[in-house]
Amino acid sequence: MLDVISVCRNFGGLPALSDVSFSLQRGRVTALIGPNGAGKTTMINCITGVDIPDAGRVDFAGEDITGLPAYRVARLGISRTFQNLKLFPRLSVIDNVLCGLTVQGGQSMLGALLRPPRVRNRERRLRLRAMAALDRFGLTELADWPVDVLAYGDRKRVELARAVVSEPRLILLDEPVAGLNHEETATVAKEIRALRAQGYTLLLVEHDMDLVMRVSDHVVVLDGGRCIAGGTPDEVRRNPLVLEAYLGRTGALA
Ligand SMILES: Nc1ncnc2c1ncn2[C@@H]1O[C@H](COP(=O)(O)OP(=O)(O)O)[C@@H](O)[C@H]1O
Ligand SMILES: [Mg+2]
Repeated sequence: MLDVISVCRNFGGLPALSDVSFSLQRGRVTALIGPNGAGKTTMINCITGVDIPDAGRVDFAGEDITGLPAYRVARLGISRTFQNLKLFPRLSVIDNVLCGLTVQGGQSMLGALLRPPRVRNRERRLRLRAMAALDRFGLTELADWPVDVLAYGDRKRVELARAVVSEPRLILLDEPVAGLNHEETATVAKEIRALRAQGYTLLLVEHDMDLVMRVSDHVVVLDGGRCIAGGTPDEVRRNPLVLEAYLGRTGALA
């Protein structure tokens, strides 16, 4: 589904990604893990057109998407969440989720002003899809609340709903449970498994090793911008290089 081929990205001469290659299999959950500063967010940015690799290539469904602007990547069916939430705080929950559908385009200024029946029907259909997405993440009751009054855990789930509402071909999640409590984390784990059961392809960037081990089919490990290991959760957990990268710094696998 997605091939990352020898991607490099430098910031001010310092490599954030050096020669990183891995592939995502259709219908699978792949986790991208590694200590802080390993390059995980930079990798997601390079896939989604938020950032451009200095070298290397990203292929999606056989097409070279390297360097495409973010809106074009989104239109191809790749959606994401952000480590530091990027929601519109004053807009309602449902309007934030509706933003996940506007990537499909098809609106005109005149249509938006005059709102003929065709436009109103389309708006109704989009609203129904947004409501269905809210429902799947338990947000129905919060639909009309402005995002800035919500608890952090609810805001994280609004981002998930926005990423999923367009029924993308690939979903990239940047630390979806960071800052969530135990119960909220368990809910997100269940939702990730449900997405997989429906055939979605996911890339999960995550620090919570327990979650990674429970929901992933395949794990790719970055350390200092390099890919140091890849394999099943069990293989990766036992890999001495991975243990060293983690235990040396955070003890996350202990
Ligand atoms: N826009 C940027 N400008 C300069 N340095 C950056 C930028 N983005 C990331 N970096 C650096 O690149 C490295 C990797 O960062 P990041 O991809 O955010 O890591 P992770 O998500 O794995 O914690 C870090 O050393 C970080 O400081
Ligand atoms: Mg990050």
